[in-house]
Amino acid sequence: MKLDRDWIPGPEDLDWIEAAAEPPIAPLLAIERAAEPERVPIVDRATGRVLAALAAGRRRIVEVGTAFGYSTLWLALGQPDGGSIVTIDPDRERTDRARGWWREAGIADDRITVVNAPALSAFAAGDAALAGPFDLAFVDALKPEYAAYVEELVPRLAPGALLLADNVLWSGRVAGPRGSAPADPDTEALRAFGPAVLRDTRFIATILPVGDGLLVGGYRG
Ligand SMILES: C[S@@+](CC[C@H](N)C(=O)[O-])C[C@H]1O[C@@H](n2cnc3c(N)ncnc32)[C@H](O)[C@@H]1O
Repeated sequence: MKLDRDWIPGPEDLDWIEAAAEPPIAPLLAIERAAEPERVPIVDRATGRVLAALAAGRRRIVEVGTAFGYSTLWLALGQPDGGSIVTIDPDRERTDRARGWWREAGIADDRITVVNAPALSAFAAGDAALAGPFDLAFVDALKPEYAAYVEELVPRLAPGALLLADNVLWSGRVAGPRGSAPADPDTEALRAFGPAVLRDTRFIATILPVGDGLLVGGYRG
């Protein structure tokens, strides 16, 4: 059979993937239910599944932007036994609730360290928890700061580490149908960020069109 190169995956394919996969554990479902009415932005479930898969074999992970700990939990579930995560978010009310869901998932408190500070301040202060080397870094906080997070993260990455960043397609505002619309600062930052990493020789990177667009970069070290 000839391959149809014009075909792109549609909603039926995404539904089929979700139906074929292991159902999310109860605390993941609880976070999804809590985040929606409170309008707390979290990665979508398909992105969560990608995070878990990419966390396999990655013992030390750093995350910028915790919120209710949904992406943190997917990462923790994908990590090997003995893996650890440092996650940064200045919003303690959110991260305290995240801790409750991690506990429900059976994740020991000492596996996940929360740094309650703005990420750039925490990096600049030389917070001991943020000392590298990390095997995976996930960026999902303030969009205009993404490039600055990467500069702080690079010296903390192990060779071969993965750099991940969410929202790099920004619901079609970066490219696609809304790609030429006038931009707010978040959109402006994301329009610059993705292409800059794709051309950054420190990484071998691409963008997966999953969820809101997930940048995946392998650090050449
Ligand atoms: C998109 S949410 C994170 C969602 C989470 N990664 C998930 O998918 O479950 C962004 C979070 O970044 C946090 N944030 C805001 N300013 C920040 C900063 N300067 N440094 C780190 N996190 C920040 C917000 O409090 C918010 O909870």
